[in-house]
Amino acid sequence: EKGGFDHFMLKEIFEQPTTIFDCLRGRLDASAGTIRMSGVDDNLDMLTNARRIIMVACGTSWHAGLVAEYVFEELCRIPVEVEYASEFRYRNPVIQTGDVIIAISQSGETADTLVAIDKAKEQGAFIFGVVNVVGSSIARVSHAGAHTHAGPEIGVASTKAFTAQLAVLYMIALKLGYAKGTIGMERYTHLINELHMVPEKVATVLESSSRIKELAEKYKDSTDFLYLGRGFNFPVALEGALKLKEISYIHAEGYPAAEMKHGPIALVEETLPVVFVATKDAYHEKLVSNAQEIKARRGKVVAVITEDDPVFTEIADDTMSVPAADELIAPMLGVIPLQLLAYYIGLAKGLDVDKPRNLAKSVTVE
Ligand code: M6R
Repeated sequence: EKGGFDHFMLKEIFEQPTTIFDCLRGRLDASAGTIRMSGVDDNLDMLTNARRIIMVACGTSWHAGLVAEYVFEELCRIPVEVEYASEFRYRNPVIQTGDVIIAISQSGETADTLVAIDKAKEQGAFIFGVVNVVGSSIARVSHAGAHTHAGPEIGVASTKAFTAQLAVLYMIALKLGYAKGTIGMERYTHLINELHMVPEKVATVLESSSRIKELAEKYKDSTDFLYLGRGFNFPVALEGALKLKEISYIHAEGYPAAEMKHGPIALVEETLPVVFVATKDAYHEKLVSNAQEIKARRGKVVAVITEDDPVFTEIADDTMSVPAADELIAPMLGVIPLQLLAYYIGLAKGLDVDKPRNLAKSVTVE
């Protein structure tokens, strides 16, 4: 049942070229330049006229919501908030007509997310579910939705569900942006093509797994890690840190790279690996100087880079490369080496990567 892999987590990481393809299939047609999603098409007025979109989720699904915040604001010019379901449900949130809630959940059974959307629904919000498990509670409570079609995810650490959530959220943002006219035909078509190429590019990243396994051996005894990224890659830094914590029990924190100076830089010393999510985008030069600041304090720089990046290769102690992609789409690629790094470090430490201590696959109690 693990398909020849040692663990479900590894199998699920390696399934991603297929699961992302399955998620796009029947929806995104690159040659026609179209995206069809009935949950969006049937509610297009409601969605394009949203005053505000609130992403509600927990854990890794919350990180997908955070990527979506950047993407929706960029492409659709709709203000977006991203809420931890547990906070949202208890604080008497202001909900107004015209608010759209996007509930993101792999299991569709996370108690906090479910109660949060129930409450928002009572107050008149429109609920759109981005859920993996068909027929789950969150899928049933939602007014409309789009399934992620990633197949059953067994490993406690969410991997393939995350990239499928991103694929769905990108498609929704593209459809809304195009329908609203906040992006033109050219950018719409370009991003459709970029999404279409993701499964193949993810497969390329997976080919470098043995290199990442070596890095895991090298860094497995570190007691702390810092993960930094900016813009679309900031949530990827958070997700990389969460994966490492769950699977290897190593303390890890994710931060927006520029926040480093406001505190975390105090942690930097020779023994601290700092993982930069540094694929080529508008922030690249800024990340280069952030990495130089880490080196100047003798920290170790490990970087996820776009292949052929001589500048970062020169600064970093170690690199993991991914194929070039549009900066909006890059999180789908940049997260893959970080999933692998967490897996191989957990493995090198002899831990139960599929069932890490104290964690449940779905958190159905608060
Ligand atoms: O099933 P959900 O997506 O609602 O679950 C949310 C979180 O519990 C989940 O992402 C959790 O953080 C994972 N263990 C992350 O790997």
